[in-house]
Amino acid sequence: MRIMLNLAHHGYFNLPQPKRHLLSIEHLKRKDIEYFLQQAHVFAQKPVLDVRRYQSQFAEVPMLMQVFFENSTRTRTSFDIAAHRLGLRTHHLSVQTSSVHKGESLTDTIHNLSAMGADLFVMRHNHSGAAHAMAYALADTPIRVVNAGDGQHAHPTQALLDMYTIWQHAGDFTGLSVAIVGDVLHSRVARSNIFALGILGCPDIRVIGPRTLLPRDVHTWGVRVFDHLHEGLLDVDVVMTLRLQKERMSSGLLPSMQAYHRAYGVTLDALAHAKPHALVMHPGPMNRGVEIDSAVADGAQSCILKQVEYGVYVRMAVMDCLLLGSI
Ligand code: CP
Repeated sequence: MRIMLNLAHHGYFNLPQPKRHLLSIEHLKRKDIEYFLQQAHVFAQKPVLDVRRYQSQFAEVPMLMQVFFENSTRTRTSFDIAAHRLGLRTHHLSVQTSSVHKGESLTDTIHNLSAMGADLFVMRHNHSGAAHAMAYALADTPIRVVNAGDGQHAHPTQALLDMYTIWQHAGDFTGLSVAIVGDVLHSRVARSNIFALGILGCPDIRVIGPRTLLPRDVHTWGVRVFDHLHEGLLDVDVVMTLRLQKERMSSGLLPSMQAYHRAYGVTLDALAHAKPHALVMHPGPMNRGVEIDSAVADGAQSCILKQVEYGVYVRMAVMDCLLLGSI
């Protein structure tokens, strides 16, 4: 399945992506994704690692620099925990108190942080393409960049941890039906997951949502599009619920939160249309009572906290593979 997103207007997206970075999913091959998942599985079984792991390639213990221009609970914390488990040195730029607010550019910020010895950047930014811009600015260095979410574009480590969750709880991708419900238009998670599922051979990827929250060209993404929640959920193996991204929405896209919940909220009644043991996923943070009911989020089919747990293993695998150049 080939999925093309209309991102060509942004020059950085078309530049070559050296394998030392993880900027998006669509440039990965199936074997790359499978390698990340297999490595995550190794780390899930192995809580203690040899601190000499990086000695042959780095004079000092490698340093992770986290730069988050947007808020985060799960991603930032799990990168921190993953880095500590790998034995890395870590530093976090406090963007709110940084010289970004005196007008320093992203490129100058990055060059200054790299001068302090960063080996790996993890960055979240509200602009689509920001991680690509960072990788471009660091092209003459060996520094690795991981995109921790850029605007509406990509959230590759979320997609990898979602794939790991599906692999652990639902098995082989080639026999699965997966429904992605909600605000696809503003969701970097949806875009990255659709690419990942396609690359892994998932034969039935569905998106369900009001037309105002679906990209105009969604029908070209290799997905089946449903307006009606119950029809879209029929016999699926996995239900991925998306957060309504109110901070990215222009007004007038929805009549009200209550109307959205009535039509697209994943309730127990709606979930009953999926297969009996269908997995329920959500990347977080959740708007309970809007896109998902608590009875579903906290119910027996929910893997939401498992996703968070697996995020640590997946981020260990990503950082380890990029630092060692094993992908
Ligand atoms: N899923 C996710 O990216 O969560 P955070 O915004 O809390 O990092």
